[in-house]
Amino acid sequence: MPKAEWFWSGAITDNSAIIKVKLNETTQDVRIAFSLDINLESNVTITAPQSAKIESGNIASFILEGLEEDTTYYYEVRVGSKVSPEKGSFKTVKVNNTFSFTIGCSGCARGSLLDIFPRNWQVSNNEIFDIIRTQNNPSLTFFLHLGDFHYRDINNGDIQRYRRAYNDVFAQERQRKLYENLPIAYVWDDHDFTGNNSDGKDPGKYAASQVYRETFPHYPLIETLDNQKSTGAIYHSFIIGRVRFILTDSRFHRNLEKVIDPHTQEEANSMLGTRQREWLLQQLKEGDEKQGCTIWVNSIPWIAKKQAGEDSWGGFDLERKLIANFIQENKINKLVMVSGDAHMLALDDGRNNKYADGGGGSFPVIQAASLSSNPSQKGGPYYKGPFPGNKQWGLLKFNDDGHQISLNVQLKKEAEEILIEETFLFSDEQTRENS
Ligand SMILES: [Fe+2]
Repeated sequence: MPKAEWFWSGAITDNSAIIKVKLNETTQDVRIAFSLDINLESNVTITAPQSAKIESGNIASFILEGLEEDTTYYYEVRVGSKVSPEKGSFKTVKVNNTFSFTIGCSGCARGSLLDIFPRNWQVSNNEIFDIIRTQNNPSLTFFLHLGDFHYRDINNGDIQRYRRAYNDVFAQERQRKLYENLPIAYVWDDHDFTGNNSDGKDPGKYAASQVYRETFPHYPLIETLDNQKSTGAIYHSFIIGRVRFILTDSRFHRNLEKVIDPHTQEEANSMLGTRQREWLLQQLKEGDEKQGCTIWVNSIPWIAKKQAGEDSWGGFDLERKLIANFIQENKINKLVMVSGDAHMLALDDGRNNKYADGGGGSFPVIQAASLSSNPSQKGGPYYKGPFPGNKQWGLLKFNDDGHQISLNVQLKKEAEEILIEETFLFSDEQTRENS
């Protein structure tokens, strides 16, 4: 009998959301029933049936449209006449409008060494996932996963192994409950891409991209998957309230193209690839012009000493400088970066982040990890921290009065302990002063 094994939501806007459902077997008749009623008894809308096909990993995809903004929806999965025992929920947002909201963020979910069962190997069922799900002061609009969703290090391009990795993450009860009850935004880092310190040279990256696309309820991606044209990176952007989120892909194009310094003609490896870098610069500029602030989600540390071959922006110093030059030249000053990879909490207000020619181009940087990995340290120096550890995460509160966005950052250990706190203010006047 076909049945839903797990489901999750993402790509929330002011009037839509995406839900992906994993079935145990191929079937033609999967529907979502959703309502404002937590019991799904009144005003229930039922989607058209979708099929779960073997070639897409038995995942059924739903786009819910015509929703009310800033409204909580509850949903259940119906397979034939069978109703899923668990219900999911998500809340829509406002877009390009005054809207205050809070998100949780972290990355790096390695499993415990004691887990010898194959299903639990290198995936996590840490209590931190319950802490994030149940924190309600205020409740979260979405959870931002900064990469290393699992540590399976799949390096042979085996699509079934990528699918199994997602399945095994959802077999961890605490993670499953979090994702069923909170929309998620996510970019991979190395361990959930093609392995430790991986780059774009691994042909297995197309399998990673295919399974991300079929399984994860993502916003529209800029690149299509095409291994003839060498595309399939997962960078994308979206807007919540007056905040632009830009998520870059640090892996898919890494070490395949060169960047050239226009002044010195110096050449070095690129992390982002030309197309993604040009897209990023355009996004940074648009965010500064059109939104109240911009969050750049970049999986790996930005602040790090220049060192060739390093798995941080220190290993891609020339590309980092070109980006910093652009930020300085365009007077982009409502930007904050959020990163994972290093298993620590740290914050810089911009004082240690001056990579443009002549020492400008600064912006605040937040390091928010790890969920459940061994404590580690990378990059720096930082204004506050680092605090290596796990059960660690960030709480970002965006408070918008229509003219000014106050971003309160709390970097926390478990539920209560705040190791770093800082508030940044971004006002419309900031743009005018510089223009
Ligand atoms: Fe990690």
